[in-house]
Amino acid sequence: MKKYLDLKYSEFTTNKSFNFSRKKILNVLPEKYLLDAHKVISKWKGYKETPLINLKKLSKKLGTNNIFYKDESKRFNLKSFKALGGAYAVEKIAKNKKKITVSTATAGNHGKSVSWGAKKIGVKCKIFISENVSNSRALEMEKLGAEVIRVKGNYEKSLSICKEISNKKGWQIVQDVAWRKYEYIPKLTMAGYSVMIKEISNQTKHYITHVFLQAGVGGMAAGMISGIAKYFRRIPKIIVIEPEHANCVMQSIKNGSIRKINIKKQSIMGGMSCAKVSLVPWRILKNAVNNCVSVSDKYVPQTLAMLAKKKFSEKKIIAGECSTPGIISLISCCNDSHLKKKLEINKSSNILIIGCEGDTDKVLYNKLYKIGRQKLKKYE
Ligand SMILES: Cc1ncc(COP(=O)(O)O)c(C=O)c1O
Repeated sequence: MKKYLDLKYSEFTTNKSFNFSRKKILNVLPEKYLLDAHKVISKWKGYKETPLINLKKLSKKLGTNNIFYKDESKRFNLKSFKALGGAYAVEKIAKNKKKITVSTATAGNHGKSVSWGAKKIGVKCKIFISENVSNSRALEMEKLGAEVIRVKGNYEKSLSICKEISNKKGWQIVQDVAWRKYEYIPKLTMAGYSVMIKEISNQTKHYITHVFLQAGVGGMAAGMISGIAKYFRRIPKIIVIEPEHANCVMQSIKNGSIRKINIKKQSIMGGMSCAKVSLVPWRILKNAVNNCVSVSDKYVPQTLAMLAKKKFSEKKIIAGECSTPGIISLISCCNDSHLKKKLEINKSSNILIIGCEGDTDKVLYNKLYKIGRQKLKKYE
């Protein structure tokens, strides 16, 4: 096949320790967590399953049966899957404790979810952000009633300051990352994310054959895999996608244990620009992931623009930067005929891609869209 859009992956790897076990996965994130998350979240005001869009035009191009795109831009008014995690964790831990203050460190969307959850149940909220988080993201959280504290340095620094101040002040940290003796709350956020898989299992009768899951610290990917273990009758091939300079899951999979990486260049896919996979997700990912793919930022604008210009689907899709790498990596894998064969991507395949956010940062979205439109002219 001719190389579609000239897309290439940066690196591809196969997990030598692959050994999918529903039982082991649901030992890490027990079924009762998954069931409770769905029970609670589906009762929230304004709850609706987010659309599962068939990317028919892309499917035709790549010669597959279906490519499903879970459109999280429609998740409540928060426009990201993160709405399912932080807000749910806040509700669980603040139950009957109106006086508590919750806090978190964030790249944006998780903090928005925590702020929204805190507002919903009337508790105070403190958000720590790094230098890399845009003002428009900070403003969104302030609009939801949170106090936003900007910290000099990167995400790791914002988290360490959040821990330090929260411990001093007695604030309850609601973090999506786990560390030693801090596992319950990250598990709640992952259980929240699994609601996406519960919905998908209601939305299509097709057996999903491949799922492409973005990873930052791995919480979303592991939450989705737990959902797959619980709700899917057949286990698809699971492919984790990361930015090329922030491939901490890939490096850990290659290494066989958690490996912290040195991010040489922050990715434009801000939520995924993470240096170290989180502890609880790792316990799931290490044996459940078939493959890891890393991709370059350079394809993000054109993919975002193509989704908006209905190049892959009948309907316009507003996809933020972190929603693009699923499509980038799928096309890249199909552009490599050996790999396409190895992954068994063919006319019977029903592929699932997660459109994890919409235009959560409007300024960035508009900038990337403009760049993408220019690039597209090359192909028109
Ligand atoms: C906006 C956003 N933030 C973060 C992530 C990564 O989630 P996690 O850090 O749980 O792996 C994603 C997707 O993977 C995302 O779309």
